[in-house]
Amino acid sequence: MGKFYGKRGEKVDKGVIISIEGVEGSGRSTHLQALKKYLEEEGYGVTTIGLQSSELLGNVISQVKRDIVFQRITLFLAYATDLADQIEYKVKEALNSGFIVLADGYIYTLMAWALSRGLEEEWVTKVLSFAIKPDLAIALIAPTRTIVRRVISKNGKIDPLASSVDLCINRDLYTSFALHVKSFQKHLLRIAEGYGLRVIKTNKSFEEVHKDIISYVNGVIK
Ligand SMILES: Nc1ncnc2c1ncn2[C@@H]1O[C@H](COP(=O)(O)OP(=O)(O)OP(=O)(O)O)[C@@H](O)[C@H]1O
Ligand SMILES: [Mg+2]
Repeated sequence: MGKFYGKRGEKVDKGVIISIEGVEGSGRSTHLQALKKYLEEEGYGVTTIGLQSSELLGNVISQVKRDIVFQRITLFLAYATDLADQIEYKVKEALNSGFIVLADGYIYTLMAWALSRGLEEEWVTKVLSFAIKPDLAIALIAPTRTIVRRVISKNGKIDPLASSVDLCINRDLYTSFALHVKSFQKHLLRIAEGYGLRVIKTNKSFEEVHKDIISYVNGVIK
């Protein structure tokens, strides 16, 4: 195992994986970037991964999602393969070098994605069992209206392709997206209870959420 020495000289025998889980618009990327900055300033080596980010499939998934409507099982397996590629080529190496790996969405986000589309839990869990279990998984949760408002103010609109086109076909976009957020978060909360995720409500200021995240993170790295 590689070793990494932080700024204050503490020894980390091996790296850790910390995942930030949540529906789109929950604040995953915002808080992950802030956490990355904090850890780097503390002297840690940090690597980031994320859903739909592998060299192998990341761009392919984005592109193809715009061309055809995938069947949900195919899309789930594509996301899982994308994650497997990142674990194989990025995460293992980083962990062996004592880095902290931050995941912008990881197995529990994917699980909530699949369960809110009615995929069978036992099968989903079995497929995802290849993934290295995170040392800490944080679920970001906010009221549906807050999430929808954040998505609209960030992107100027709800993008049906980014926001679950498969679930948005028959209703107006606002209602379908809101229903999707509600169902996703219901599943994520149940997953959080079952798998011991730390839940943080994000309908408070950025600074307060950041502070909560740091305190959980310090619990696993110090
Ligand atoms: N704690 C917070 N308080 C207020 N606004 C927030 C907070 N967290 C995130 N936001 C805002 O909400 C919007 C969505 O956040 P962000 O892009 O981080 O979400 P995401 O979960 O990464 O979504 P996506 O799936 O689109 O990548 C951004 O405009 C961000 O500034
Ligand atoms: Mg994001």
